[in-house]
Amino acid sequence: MEETRNKIIDESVQGSALMVNSNTDNHKKLYIESYGCQMNFSDSEIVASILSNSGYNTTNKLEEADVVFVNTCSVREKAETTVRNRLKSFNAIKKQKPEMIIGVLGCMAERVKSQLLEEEKLVDIVVGPDAYRDLPNLLSQADEGKKAVNVLLSKEETYADISPVRLLSNGVTAFISITRGCDNMCTFCVVPFTRGRERSRNPESIVNEAKDLFEKGYKEVTLLGQNVDSYLWYGEEGLKKEYENLTDDEKSKCINFAQLMEKVAQISPQLRVRFSTSHPKDLTDDFLHTMAMYDNICNYIHLPFQSGNSRILELMNRGYTSEWYKERIKSIKRIVPDVSLSSDIITGFCSETEEEHKDTLDLMEYVKFDYAYMFSYSERPNTLAQRKFKDDVPDAVKKRRLSEIILLQNKHSLERNKTYVGKTFQVLIEGLSKKSDKEYQGRIPQNAVVVFPKENYKIGDYVKVHIHNCTGATLIGKAV
Ligand code: SAH
Ligand code: SF4
Ligand code: F3S
Repeated sequence: MEETRNKIIDESVQGSALMVNSNTDNHKKLYIESYGCQMNFSDSEIVASILSNSGYNTTNKLEEADVVFVNTCSVREKAETTVRNRLKSFNAIKKQKPEMIIGVLGCMAERVKSQLLEEEKLVDIVVGPDAYRDLPNLLSQADEGKKAVNVLLSKEETYADISPVRLLSNGVTAFISITRGCDNMCTFCVVPFTRGRERSRNPESIVNEAKDLFEKGYKEVTLLGQNVDSYLWYGEEGLKKEYENLTDDEKSKCINFAQLMEKVAQISPQLRVRFSTSHPKDLTDDFLHTMAMYDNICNYIHLPFQSGNSRILELMNRGYTSEWYKERIKSIKRIVPDVSLSSDIITGFCSETEEEHKDTLDLMEYVKFDYAYMFSYSERPNTLAQRKFKDDVPDAVKKRRLSEIILLQNKHSLERNKTYVGKTFQVLIEGLSKKSDKEYQGRIPQNAVVVFPKENYKIGDYVKVHIHNCTGATLIGKAV
């Protein structure tokens, strides 16, 4: 998913159905629309791969599809409302074409389970994020008019052996999932319930996937997970154990995130490596040193802080205080001096006072993030916060606080972009600029988007670009 910079985006409600794969042996057509985080977009590529082996090509024309899937997000209420509306419009099409199968995949499938099938009668198939291997079987059940539901979560599934069909591809950048699930239990968050226990994927399969992409001409991979820094591989068998129960010998053979990153970075200096998302409590100095050592590990960290107030952070069960977060930022800037930082922020969490909200603004002033994803708190069913705390900040107050942080962030984004003006950066060309086909767009290692005249360069080239101007959202430059 392309990040839209310096504009509040709610990634959970932006749908996207893109590109097609075409295997000439295939006859049936799959349309898949994805919502939510990058993990979901990456999962849709796994789904397309699984179904490509059972006779399906993807299509971006809804009307010609035999199967319509929506890969869903539950992180905020709005995300689920969007999905319900989409399902209703798919059902209107199904009225003309009753043989069309409609399925719900992903986090909302996991959260509401068979409700969308049995009570709301909006879908024929319900499949949770760990059950995609069962899709061919579920599709034949649905074809026979049977209820097809599989929402089993797994402690082991990582789809390590499945080679994703690159649906979102510009041929230059790609996502690789390295962990699934989350063990953190932030009190506001549904992800641990929808995605299950955290597990790490076999490092060999990750490195091979990255090598394969590089050989096919890709120049950048982003390693994905809800919490990539807690990546830890301790063998196929180890997946079934807790780390604490391993012998010292077994522990010494483990591979952590810093070591994994190093392996991927060593594939080629011409392959850029990015990663998302980092949890502040798990980001180690060890990793930061690896980042500083390899030029091709991009100096950009997305490090959500959620709130600048330590009491709220404790209620959120984030595992750090505001002071501790500031100290981490200091270490990051010391070890990787030209790093850029972005964050996720929630306003109006249960019982947040005006002073506590100001602490969030203060923390933003302290760090001056390049970019932030900002949300007002949305209570989610069955989360710890929903069960234990009152969602007592009025909507209007949440919104006003949100607009204050957006205003401040926009100011910081512009200030940060101005610090890049006058400098020259290596830019990887990702495609045509959205505004003009005479210009390319790409990103500097720090992740800011640059547009510059095409001249004779090609998509996928690395170019040195001198930045001569900027807006809050974009750097403007010229190749040197
Ligand atoms: N694993 C990532 C983020 C996953 S969800 C991490 O921990 O950083 C992405 C973002 O959505 C979160 O960082 C948080 O800012 C926001 N979010 C999650 N649950 C939310 C809720 N109930 N209401 C509003 N925002 C929420
Ligand atoms: Fe949710 Fe927290 Fe896990 Fe992120 S770390 S997915 S916010 S529980
Ligand atoms: Fe949404 Fe699930 Fe991702 S809830 S943010 S799609 S893990």
